[in-house]
Amino acid sequence: MKRQSVLDLRKKADNDEKIVMVTAYDYTMARLVDAAGVDMVLVGDSLGMVVQGHDDTLPVTLDHMVYHVQCVSRGLQRAHLVADMPFMSYQIDGAQALASAGRLMQEGRANSVKLEGGERSAEAVRRCVEAGIPVVGHVGLTPQSVHAMGGFRIQGRTEEAADRVVRDAVAVAEAGAFCIVLEGIPSDVAAEITNRLEIPTIGIGAGPHCSGQVLVCNDILGMDLSFAPKFVKRYARVEETAVQAFEAFANEVRAGSFPGPEHSFERKNAPRKVAKLY
Ligand code: KIV
Repeated sequence: MKRQSVLDLRKKADNDEKIVMVTAYDYTMARLVDAAGVDMVLVGDSLGMVVQGHDDTLPVTLDHMVYHVQCVSRGLQRAHLVADMPFMSYQIDGAQALASAGRLMQEGRANSVKLEGGERSAEAVRRCVEAGIPVVGHVGLTPQSVHAMGGFRIQGRTEEAADRVVRDAVAVAEAGAFCIVLEGIPSDVAAEITNRLEIPTIGIGAGPHCSGQVLVCNDILGMDLSFAPKFVKRYARVEETAVQAFEAFANEVRAGSFPGPEHSFERKNAPRKVAKLY
């Protein structure tokens, strides 16, 4: 089966069909989200937090991303695969951005790359697009700038800040991005950007007026129930189910009831006589 192309996604948005994006970081999760029929799978650098256990995404390297994109790529048949460009893999100049994006496409087999930032990242977007690499922009709350923002804070709340987010989105679109993630901004600002741009907008914490929505797979599944920001909706409580399953396994092993005969193997003929060694 063919993966969704940038043209398929564009057609969807033009027909007012919402675009669904979910993150995945490994082969197993990729198979599950692909089977659910999502349009786009993002190997986000959020893996720094939900897979590697860091407080932010800054420690994620390009090598980490290539590895996870390769794992996810093997699990996808239908969904368009977006690979995140990690911190310091595109900020230096256009040549660095192109080299990093090239690795994610060539070694990772991604269908497009995503990078954060508006006006300041326009040159990086342009260089990749000129080389034939489709780019997803990302403006508003950009987690790689967590220190500059003073934390993971909603952006664009004042008039001046909203203007800045709109300018950033326009700059990324003009640089040639085929799609843009709007993260952590007021709904009306996201609506304005969505109306103004010809490319689809994918929201996370950006209200209902975007062309599509993205959430982190772990959040959709409720794999960490202590994490409950306002923009997340849980569709399952996998943390509870998983802990119960591991406890049940541990109890059965300790009680000697696992493995039973149905999970054990026998010899073809008579059971072997085991000499008593003790
Ligand atoms: O890294 C990530 O998962 C992201 C999404 C939250 C948009 O950038």
